[in-house]
Amino acid sequence: MKVAVFGSGYVGLVTACCLADVGHHVVCMDVDDEKIARLRRGEVPIYEPGLSELVRRNLATGRLHFTTEAAEAVAFGTLQFIAVGTPPDEDGSADLQYVLAVAESIGRHMRDFKVIVDKSTVPVGTAEKVRSQVAEALAERDVEIPFEVCSNPEFLKEGSAIEDFNHAARIIVGTESERVRSLMRECYAPYIRRQEKLVFMSVRSAELTKYAANAMLATKISFINEMANLTERLGADVEEVRRGIGSDLRIGYHFIYPGCGYGGSCFPKDVSALAKTASEVGYAAELLDAVAAVNRRQKRTLFDKLSQAFDGELADKTIAVWGLAFKPNTDDMREAPSRELLESLWQAGARVRVFDPKAMEECRRLYGERMDLRLCRDREAAVDGADALVICTEWKEFRAVDFAWLRGVLRCPVVVDGRNLYDPSLAKDAGLLYYAVGRGASLN
Ligand code: UDX
Repeated sequence: MKVAVFGSGYVGLVTACCLADVGHHVVCMDVDDEKIARLRRGEVPIYEPGLSELVRRNLATGRLHFTTEAAEAVAFGTLQFIAVGTPPDEDGSADLQYVLAVAESIGRHMRDFKVIVDKSTVPVGTAEKVRSQVAEALAERDVEIPFEVCSNPEFLKEGSAIEDFNHAARIIVGTESERVRSLMRECYAPYIRRQEKLVFMSVRSAELTKYAANAMLATKISFINEMANLTERLGADVEEVRRGIGSDLRIGYHFIYPGCGYGGSCFPKDVSALAKTASEVGYAAELLDAVAAVNRRQKRTLFDKLSQAFDGELADKTIAVWGLAFKPNTDDMREAPSRELLESLWQAGARVRVFDPKAMEECRRLYGERMDLRLCRDREAAVDGADALVICTEWKEFRAVDFAWLRGVLRCPVVVDGRNLYDPSLAKDAGLLYYAVGRGASLN
């Protein structure tokens, strides 16, 4: 099949490459000249395991190419995927300007039947807006060309996006049209050995499914974080409680790891966008608001614990930070708990020495050169001469550490672990003041 993908960001690029890799011919369009020029040379601007090889391999086969010309992409095949960004507006709702701009240009250039596939995460009702935008552009040209709009949300996780695309748990397609169903079946045929993987439903249900999935996952995290805050105060251990509840198949072990709060480009944005959508239809989404509030509070626990360990005296202290990305295997720092920590530390007059295996460049881009930020080459350099250590991301290379060495190198033996990497009793035996999440007495 010939397929056009609008947007060469995270979702667009993964979609384009994966579809080309199974044999489809794909053109990926973006308005950013520089980005497209780099992609044509096989240079991938984001870090995602396996993505660079996939881009290069498919450039070489000739099944993947990049363009800045909307007309060229629109002319290329029947399926037109919209995979551009939907950043949050000031009020938390998703900003649709980029999605609607693509819709407008499809309407402006199309000459025959098109299926417009919404892959971006968009609020319920967006397919209708896309439809009107295309219809308006056609009316301006004074032509009548048939088209369909369907919803096909993605469920990719950063760090394993290619694996998730190739082995999706389900592929959701929202449409009422048999013609669209059959085209989407053909597009995804290489991925579907079990027919039930492809789930057809109404457009609105498909649009909501994406938000419902992310809101459910965010709820699980905020729930376990709330339990962690309780276990700290009740003298219980959240890791024991987690194992205790996870063994119930109705609850399950997945996504109930306590931590310093969820971050990333999806959960925070999608939970607040869904709450906003709810309020627009006159429904107060109390659970969603609570999920977001618990998460905001959770991100502050790193600083609060550290501050209490130093009796509020953080001015002129040097704090080592291991991990900046919102999770391992990515360089993404969007909404990362580390940012809340860094900003609070600076406000309190502390200096920070940071190390992350992938996000150092991103940290430099966000915060630039500043006197109170030192980018270190490895985890050892970060703790060298530091008063205390805070762990924000559970990178594999932080999992094993010689506590005696750490005890010796830190000026005060304070370790705040936002990811529960270590056995608290071993850390304590080594003489560390170790504050994990939901394990052992709270500092409050
Ligand atoms: C998420 C969804 O998983 C994916 O299906 C959707 O398409 C996009 O949003 P992603 O943002 O890449 O993917 O990251 P994910 O691995 O889901 O982690 C999100 C955040 O939750 C991270 O900050 C992570 O540290 C945190 N988390 C996850 C926990 O704190 N505890 C857990 O048990 C799981």
